[in-house]
Amino acid sequence: MLAPVRLSEGVHWVGVNDRTTELFENLWPLPHGISYNAYVVEGADRIALIDAVKGLFVPDYLDALERLLGPGRQPDYLVVNHLEPDHSGALGAVRARFPGLRVVGNRKTAEFLEHLHGVGGDDVLVVGDGDTLDLGGRALRFGLVPMVHWPETMVTLDTGSGVLFTGDVFGGYRALEGALFDDETHVPARVEGEMLRYFANIVGKYSPMVQKALPKVRALEPRMLAPSHGVVWRGAIDHVIGLYDRWSRHETDPGVTIAYGSMYGGGERLAERLSRALREAGVATVRVHNLARSHASYVLRDVWRYRALVVGTPTYNLGVFPAVDALLRLLEDKRLERRLLGITGTYGWSGGGVKGVRAFGERCPGWEVVEPVVEARFTPKAGHFRQVEELAANLAARLER
Ligand code: FEO
Repeated sequence: MLAPVRLSEGVHWVGVNDRTTELFENLWPLPHGISYNAYVVEGADRIALIDAVKGLFVPDYLDALERLLGPGRQPDYLVVNHLEPDHSGALGAVRARFPGLRVVGNRKTAEFLEHLHGVGGDDVLVVGDGDTLDLGGRALRFGLVPMVHWPETMVTLDTGSGVLFTGDVFGGYRALEGALFDDETHVPARVEGEMLRYFANIVGKYSPMVQKALPKVRALEPRMLAPSHGVVWRGAIDHVIGLYDRWSRHETDPGVTIAYGSMYGGGERLAERLSRALREAGVATVRVHNLARSHASYVLRDVWRYRALVVGTPTYNLGVFPAVDALLRLLEDKRLERRLLGITGTYGWSGGGVKGVRAFGERCPGWEVVEPVVEARFTPKAGHFRQVEELAANLAARLER
């Protein structure tokens, strides 16, 4: 879809879709692409750009601005809600095209701007929490929401329209498919899964800061939430704020994620039996990931959503299998709280894999190991499959509480 798209009187989307980049942050898969949302707010006296786009898309972005503003009209400000290069990559090109344009951000933004883009001095207008910037007939009001996602992150309210520009907050993976607004698309199926994956991958680690930010967002009484990725929320504002509230409080649905590594098939057989046993025990949602194939991005999404995780690992060089170990490190780094942990494993001449997973569970805040821990030597036998069924029954019972 091509910009510009009108949000409200004097407010337009001038963003771009990216269906080319394989990995966001060179880390997280983008099978459905992503949008970089940028906006323009036009007052009677001044024009403000709200965030920009990734550097790769400078021509499209400048073209959209010129089509919207027409010849001879220049923006006065570029408000930087968030300086990560997926939004500020075009900053140098914008300043070159519009000489005299001032970059607006908070003190932390100014500090980072100097290092990231070599911009400082009078070229930067520093604002604080609650400050306003008059555009003529409308003003921008700034709210600092540090660490959602970087320390400089802030949100900006257009008092004229009630549109709140939220940066990464409420954003999601997936390029826009012609629909800019939530009420133009089938939100749960098409949007929320990729929004949760974005939250789990990018924002979730900073959940305590999200909890501090949400009251600030609510207090601004937005009539529209315009994030820098994904759809603009105007029909389901309370719903999306509720999702963020729930995810950042580590609240979960009653399901089980099975994430396993398996070198010679024994661990896989345990996972397969477990998945069926969980269904037979009444667990409605089971997600299974072979960690040699599933990218951690998706596993992290599911672990963020569901209350129980079963980790299966072979013993590898006296420890946890590398693909499993990488997931555990990621989960620990993201500081997920209060999960039920099941453990299965195999070993040959010495143990170590299961022991490593148990130690991981003990380090994670509020995690609880559900027994029995199942550990087979070389290959699972009938007794191990009976233990897997017992584990499934115990997990199902815990999920019902
Ligand atoms: Fe969309 Fe944290 O950048």
